[in-house]
Amino acid sequence: MTKTSAPAAKGDAISSVAEAEVTADKVAAAAAKAEEMEQLRLDIDQHNYRYHTLDAPTLPDGEYDRLFQRLQKLEQQCPELITVDSPTQRVGASPLHEFTQVSHELPMLSLDNAFDASDLQDFERRIRSRLEDTLNTAEYQGRELEFACEPKIDGIAVSLLYEQGRLVRGATRGDGMIGEDITQNVRTIKSVPLRLVGKGYPQRLEVRGEIYISKSTFEQLNQAAMQAGEKLFANPRNAAAGSVRQKDSRLTAKRQLTMFCYAVGQVEGGEIPQQHSEILNKFKSWGLRINPASEVVKGVDACVDYFDRLSKNRAGLNYAIDGVVFKVNDRLLQAQLGILTRTPRWAIAHKFPAEEGISRLLAVEFQVGRTGAITPVARLEPVKVGGVTISNATLHNMDEVNRLGLFINDTVVVQRAGDVIPKVVRVMQAGEHQQVIALPAQCPACGADIVQTASEVIARCEAGLACQAQRKESIRHFASRLAMDIEGLGDKLVVQLVDEGLIQSPADLYALVASELVKLERMAPKSANNLLQALDKSKQTSLAKFIYALGIQEVGESTARSLANFFGDLDLLRRADVEKLQQVQDVGPIVALKIARFFSQADNQAVVNDLLAAGITFEAVSVDEPSVVLQGLTYVLTGSLTQLSRNEAKARLQAMGAKVAGTVSKKTSVVVAGEAAGSKLVKAQALGLKVIDETELMDLFAAHET
Ligand code: IVH
Repeated sequence: MTKTSAPAAKGDAISSVAEAEVTADKVAAAAAKAEEMEQLRLDIDQHNYRYHTLDAPTLPDGEYDRLFQRLQKLEQQCPELITVDSPTQRVGASPLHEFTQVSHELPMLSLDNAFDASDLQDFERRIRSRLEDTLNTAEYQGRELEFACEPKIDGIAVSLLYEQGRLVRGATRGDGMIGEDITQNVRTIKSVPLRLVGKGYPQRLEVRGEIYISKSTFEQLNQAAMQAGEKLFANPRNAAAGSVRQKDSRLTAKRQLTMFCYAVGQVEGGEIPQQHSEILNKFKSWGLRINPASEVVKGVDACVDYFDRLSKNRAGLNYAIDGVVFKVNDRLLQAQLGILTRTPRWAIAHKFPAEEGISRLLAVEFQVGRTGAITPVARLEPVKVGGVTISNATLHNMDEVNRLGLFINDTVVVQRAGDVIPKVVRVMQAGEHQQVIALPAQCPACGADIVQTASEVIARCEAGLACQAQRKESIRHFASRLAMDIEGLGDKLVVQLVDEGLIQSPADLYALVASELVKLERMAPKSANNLLQALDKSKQTSLAKFIYALGIQEVGESTARSLANFFGDLDLLRRADVEKLQQVQDVGPIVALKIARFFSQADNQAVVNDLLAAGITFEAVSVDEPSVVLQGLTYVLTGSLTQLSRNEAKARLQAMGAKVAGTVSKKTSVVVAGEAAGSKLVKAQALGLKVIDETELMDLFAAHET
């Protein structure tokens, strides 16, 4: 503190000396506090590291709590001294409206699969033949190939970015090119260091790994959910996925997520070792948690042995795995092998076979989907498969029922593979009192006739929105996250609203009023208001989401986006004929017909009109002005692009009039080869096609885009 007025009298001078001393004391005390706080943070980080990364705590829990509380107390006294990476700051921040997108500078790849030892042998053979020259050099000659073997964690892949050792961003994998920013959520995970420990980490380091929920935590979560009468999670992976994508990170903080790190992304301003296994060791020394079950082995036979050993230990692990990942350990060799489209040639996942269980078919029910498709669903005697109780399984369609030769009361084998809906794979024994499974003649929901054309395997109720079941499903779809994203409008509420006769079509949602809503069971005024607000918010959307939300048969998210980009305007789309529709990327004759038919139906036209009248607006679309620059040319994109995502490159080429195809053929005009382009590039060269690189592509855009 500084005094502005000069001391006039002697007494004043004395008091100002005393004051100065007091001030100096205060400054010293504050400095001491700041120092103590930093020391506490370092100590707590160190103990977190020992506890979470090394799994070797050296401090009793009570002692740790004491340090933590002391830091909290000091931070309360001096809130201005709280740092973002203080260990107290993991509790979660205020809810987000939306996740922002993150574009991965290096794509997050997926893995090719092997299902048996011979697939693994092929894998090694391919590698050996590609690396022939290198493996014949003095350095490698006579040596077996080294593989890093790791459990394949059944969780959620994420990327963590550290700058100067500080966690600055966490992102989901998304489609590999573009993910979502989940920094707030990642910060709540105790095994993710907010600051790296130790020395020698690169200034910019991207670490990749898997976030998961342990089996024991998963059980506890479901216990708690059951007691609270809430919906249970199907498996640990779903629980982890839901927690990682929570908009309210305070909820994420409660889920006790954890993480194993297994790969490196970007590295700047520093060196990392040449062997993958050494990198993992470095990770550990920097406080990042790695899987202790990883091993380095020589040759593919040892990989098979690792797989067998891990299969036996699988049940004893406290985390779910769905296989083993084998990676060429030497990063120089990895670089030479490169990437094939989205999967590296130097790694492979050996998946465990799907898990099976035995049950009895009690009954078959017929469900009506959004577009009227009738699906037979098996009701089974509950059976535990891979730790999850299964009592329903899909039978897909009547052809499948016949193929299986299935009757009610048969003993059946049911299978569940990871996230996939369980299915009946075969009949094990015919039941004593077999009953025939017959497709009903009338829709179980509305009583309309069920129609099955000769050319289609799928039977349908053609009553459209007049059918309650289809109505519910289409409203559910309309409200879903990738469509109108109406928060709080879950499945149960849709059923309630339709059953109570409050809504008949998606458009009726926007006419709901609080006084009606509060009459519903379990609907407090606050929830009613939240719903109305969410509905209001959903009115500002994009044309692509709106088209997707309409639930036109065969129009998924990506086709909806193509349609929006092509027409840029709903009216033009509504009036488009089949020929015009086929000009849109990915729209063939069948899809074009479905779209045209949808808009030709009066009921659908009315729903769309009502929705627009309710005030739905679209953000401006930059229409793919059918530019003529690249008219008649077919481009193929291959390899990874660094300055923009592949989807973006595709959209921009299309906007310039080009067709963008997925495979190289004689008809291809130009191949754009990004980094580590693989077989498509080889084929293009073999066919003598024009090949350009990313820089030339960017030049092309720069020269022609306005
Ligand atoms: S490495 C370049 N290692 O498996 C390879 N992936 O199918 C990048 N996964 O998206 C992945 N455990 O989510 C790698 N030890 C492990 C893994 C692992 C689980 C997941 C990951 C990836 C998927 C690939």
